Amino acid sequence: MGHYSQHLNTEIQLTRINMSILDIVQEPDPVLRKKCDEVPAVDDELKKLMNNMLETMYNAPGIGLAAPQIGISKRVIVIDISRDGENKNPLFIVNPKIIWKSEELNAREEGCLSLPGHYAEVIRPAKCKLEYLDYNGKQQIIEADDLLSTCIQHEVDHCDGILFIDYLSKLKKDMIIKKLIKAKKEKEIL
Ligand code: NI
Repeated sequence: MGHYSQHLNTEIQLTRINMSILDIVQEPDPVLRKKCDEVPAVDDELKKLMNNMLETMYNAPGIGLAAPQIGISKRVIVIDISRDGENKNPLFIVNPKIIWKSEELNAREEGCLSLPGHYAEVIRPAKCKLEYLDYNGKQQIIEADDLLSTCIQHEVDHCDGILFIDYLSKLKKDMIIKKLIKAKKEKEIL
């Protein structure tokens, strides 16, 4: 789809071995509200983390996952917006930097693996340009629109401790957080 698929061909060739599914942190949790640290280098340990994040995201299932959502305060993201039945098209993003956002806006319903069961329409720039390091530590720049643009902005927000509910009215945000707290308490009782 669009501008970003061309350079991903090598990344798709991943051998998916020794992957683990990690626990996903749910709001409210302080790790989701911290500004994450830049990654100094894309080494084997980080690749392992990214593989596990991808597996966790596919298992959830979701189309994007940021490291703080598995309790790791690093600027690392995995995304795959391919549809069911299509070939997988994972995008590994390290140290993301949005270097351009369009003036044109777009409203899209968003959800988040850290806020299960809650969805709301969020207005964001329709297009963006992202600079990042890929799975091999190579610098990349992509321009994204549609769902990928929304997904990138949502996940980069995670790296800055921002959740999609922060764009809603205080009333709506407080109501969702209240429900999440209640759901967590119910889980503890069971
Ligand atoms: Ni999210």
